[in-house]
Amino acid sequence: MTAPTPVLALQGICKSFPGVRALHEVSLRLFPGEVHALMGQNGAGKSTLIKVLTGLYEPDAGRIELAGREIAPRTTQEAQDHGIRTVYQEVNLCPNLSVAENICLGRLPKRWGRIDWAAVRAEAQRVLAQMELDIDVDQPLHRCPLAQQQMVAIARALRDPAKVLILDEPTSSLDEAAVQQLFAVLRRLREQGLAILFVTHFLDQTYAISDRITVMRNGETEGEYLAQDLSRLALVNKMVGAAADDAEKARLASRSTAPGAPVLTAEQIGRSGTLQPTSLQLRRGEVLGLAGLLGSGRTELARLLFGADAADSGQLRVGDGPAGRFSSPREAIAAGLAFCSEDRKLEGCVLDLSVRENIVLALQARHGLRLVMKPAELQALADDYIRRLGIKTASADTPIGQLSGGNQQKVLLARWLATHPALLILDEPTRGIDVRAKEELMDAVLALAHSADQAEPMAVLFISSELPEVLHCSDRLLVMRDRHVLGEYPRGALDEHGVLEVIAADAPQAA
Ligand SMILES: Nc1ncnc2c1ncn2[C@@H]1O[C@H](COP(=O)(O)OP(=O)(O)OP(=O)(O)O)[C@@H](O)[C@H]1O
Ligand SMILES: [Mg+2]
Repeated sequence: MTAPTPVLALQGICKSFPGVRALHEVSLRLFPGEVHALMGQNGAGKSTLIKVLTGLYEPDAGRIELAGREIAPRTTQEAQDHGIRTVYQEVNLCPNLSVAENICLGRLPKRWGRIDWAAVRAEAQRVLAQMELDIDVDQPLHRCPLAQQQMVAIARALRDPAKVLILDEPTSSLDEAAVQQLFAVLRRLREQGLAILFVTHFLDQTYAISDRITVMRNGETEGEYLAQDLSRLALVNKMVGAAADDAEKARLASRSTAPGAPVLTAEQIGRSGTLQPTSLQLRRGEVLGLAGLLGSGRTELARLLFGADAADSGQLRVGDGPAGRFSSPREAIAAGLAFCSEDRKLEGCVLDLSVRENIVLALQARHGLRLVMKPAELQALADDYIRRLGIKTASADTPIGQLSGGNQQKVLLARWLATHPALLILDEPTRGIDVRAKEELMDAVLALAHSADQAEPMAVLFISSELPEVLHCSDRLLVMRDRHVLGEYPRGALDEHGVLEVIAADAPQAA
């Protein structure tokens, strides 16, 4: 029996940027008809490797073989011509155009020099049928749910016969149902013989879909494994390069949880159609977690507290001040609130500015012209956060656009932390951040919440779809379903299973 030939094989790939060795002697093999997960911590080199493969970066050394023949794609077009197709995390489609136009974008079928609309529709239908998808091709894209938009992006990539499909964190903004739809499509494509390379930080998803796993660490290939042979624990340890140490666990267990003065009190705050009237209190030195499925009202609650949406019932109290409401986020920020969400684009990650400039941005915005800090002080402040949050960057002067996705997310978090908010609202702050960094990041936030070098610790409202994460971080937990709070629980009262039971229970219950 001869071993099957990989459709794509990379050997000895090296790529450096000024001051950063992003890839060193990396190898990777993809076989036809497999889903292959590329795993590694933030900054491990996954996206860089993909960019080398797709002709965006020229490698400094190494060899790429397609079905046994060496290729050297120098542009994305060349890579595409070789049958290597990529769908990036930020789907670059045109929301106002129809599904059909989006699929044929860039190369619309023409007749007598004019766009042949019948052919555009037929072509789009052909590609979707090949993926066994039923999507109305005349619909404007923005009317399609996010999952369908993602499918359209894939359909566009697969319009011409393809050999390799690369997906870099395709699921980071999809809910569970949408992820399942995407996986159903990927399984069909796998059956058709496509090799699929899939980058994700979600371990569950890795095991649900992949046949083989390549682990990268610090710009090097750590190893290649059959998914069925690699336990989760082994996978995490290979990504991290060491077993989780006990000192860290002990440090967590000894965390102080005595809450301080109230920062924000909500009394029956609500908005019809969005959130039923809800009361809660956020106190200094305490992390309040919001658990619940997507659509349960967690983000809606956070937005009402922050004045991003207008409440139509109830009121808020800052500290022991008078009752009222914020009419805008600006007012909330002035009152000492900060809101860090998962959306890097919306959060205004300024790609051309340096890491340091991005970190001090919110601080400067708050103080305006009255800012009394000297440049050297700002520099020290930024450097301090880079160290505390473990931001992987060549230097504080590096443009943030050059950082890996997860590290950009950390910079945004640092930006808000630097303002020393009284209340920090974190809405899915760890999307796109690897497992180990997630823990470290939250530990860093918790440490800052309790740290002695701050006059007063901050209060944190923490939202995450990942239950283990919410349970790990929260001193108190609110469980939500269908736009209302089901109950409030002290730390340790519920485990994962317990939370799910509360959510699934028929009648609302309280602790
Ligand atoms: N254009 C660039 N210029 C300079 N450095 C870069 C550039 N692109 C990537 N790097 C650096 O190369 C390293 C690898 O980054 P890469 O984006 O490949 O990581 P990743 O594994 O995709 O991480 P994440 O999970 O956070 O997306 C990082 O240290 C990053 O800062
Ligand atoms: Mg990346």
